[in-house]
Amino acid sequence: MKIAYVASEVFPYAKTGGLGDVAGALPIELSKLGHEVKVFMPKYNTFGEAEYGLHYEWDIGSIPIRVDGHVYQVHVHTAMLPDSNVEIFFVDCPHYFHRFRIYTTDWDEDERFILFSKGVIEILQRIAWAPDIIHCNDWQTGMLPIHLKENYGWDKLFDKTATVFTIHNVAYQGIFSKEAFEKAEIKYEHYQTGGLGEYYGNVNFLKTAILVSDAVNTVSETYAKELLTEEYGAGMQIFLASRKDDFFGILNGIDYNVWNPETDRFIPYNFTCENLSDKIKNKKTLLERLGIPYNENVPLIGIISRLVDQKGLDIFVYGINQLMELDAQWIVLGSGLQKYEDLFQQIAVRYPEKISVYLGFNNELSHMIEAAADIFLMPSRFEPCGLNQMYSLRYGTVPVVRKTGGLADTVQDWNEFLEQGKETGTGYSFVEYSSHALLLSVQRAIHDFHLKDVWKKIQLNGMKKDFSWQKSAEKYIQIYNHAIRKRNG
Ligand code: ADP
Ligand code: GLC
Repeated sequence: MKIAYVASEVFPYAKTGGLGDVAGALPIELSKLGHEVKVFMPKYNTFGEAEYGLHYEWDIGSIPIRVDGHVYQVHVHTAMLPDSNVEIFFVDCPHYFHRFRIYTTDWDEDERFILFSKGVIEILQRIAWAPDIIHCNDWQTGMLPIHLKENYGWDKLFDKTATVFTIHNVAYQGIFSKEAFEKAEIKYEHYQTGGLGEYYGNVNFLKTAILVSDAVNTVSETYAKELLTEEYGAGMQIFLASRKDDFFGILNGIDYNVWNPETDRFIPYNFTCENLSDKIKNKKTLLERLGIPYNENVPLIGIISRLVDQKGLDIFVYGINQLMELDAQWIVLGSGLQKYEDLFQQIAVRYPEKISVYLGFNNELSHMIEAAADIFLMPSRFEPCGLNQMYSLRYGTVPVVRKTGGLADTVQDWNEFLEQGKETGTGYSFVEYSSHALLLSVQRAIHDFHLKDVWKKIQLNGMKKDFSWQKSAEKYIQIYNHAIRKRNG
């Protein structure tokens, strides 16, 4: 099967969250299953060409692409995804992508990704490569399926090409004024009331993709169910319900080449299930580096997160006084909304011996925290999949999570399973979205941390879980086949 995988961020070139990790790993796994995969992303100026060995594609040359009546010359660079035979194509348009950040709040954010969608299709034309599947991800690629059908429907190259769309997070929908569709040269009827893209007088890229793609999925089974409800669907539940025969949930995998305590090059002491006792050396090193007193018997609790409402930071901050009274130390790595950055800054000043806060994006530190912490906290209000709890499981760092979305699918509560007579739990979870419920779960974790044998059992249960990509990649192939059948009758 020929698969074009399209995303606005791909690790290691660009990453702001889990999408980058997924887009850097799933295509490689698909190719290992014997498929021909090409990846497409914008060429931002946040990374250098030399840094990752990008080649300029002379043969493709310059492609004129029109957005809002202006023609931009697009150039193409290619590289191979690290340690793979998957080629990645970079859509290079300085006017839109040289802004020193991946996403912006600029007035022409819609145009940036309209150009990207068209750019991908035009590259496929230039290289005369007819994919069986174009796999789009999140709203930034949401216009591609409708462009393919309407603006490029004349091209026989795409006669059999089916589209699959993955929702990584329904909170980001790409809502713009109706002019966005005009700029994209999409037919008038689609942005009129009741049209494919129209949404309360605006246009919505996510809605369009949900309605137009041949198949749609999201990144865990529980989130797929949640998305059909008013509470979690963020307005998309009606459209998803109309696609229920073509809508699926597939749990993300994790890339054990990158997230593996045995080989992780960012941590000073590698460890496995067999020498788990070495894990603590990472904790000692990290606390020393942070200037926080080290005590083997005080658990270190880690948080690595985009600082946005989704991640449950309001219930964390609300309960901060009680949480800081616990006999534990904290390390927080994150960036995001100003209100949370300010709050964390204040907390760090108030409790200097208890909590260390790093505001910003730091890949190396994120690995170090996974290796060093005893407990990992993820109290999300909603969580489509979540990767950090899976990384934590592999690093023997016991997760405390809210039972929602992918967190519910990946973390088994120790006490709940114990009540059923099974010692198979891997962490702690709570259902009610409140500071109180969060506090109780953290307290349960701290309590068990002191029961050495119990704790080791929980750690080992988690470390032995297999969340590798292979199983998930196989499920994607099933969805691709579904989409191909749908497209070709
Ligand atoms: P989301 O995509 O909603 O942010 P995920 O758990 O799926 O949540 O993925 C987050 C990814 O981004 C993880 O790989 C995590 O380590 C990384 N990450 C988040 N914030 C930071 C940060 N401040 N510094 C480094 N890595 C971060
Ligand atoms: C989104 C979600 C996160 C998921 C990631 C990758 O950013 O918030 O839960 O793991 O996408 O699919």
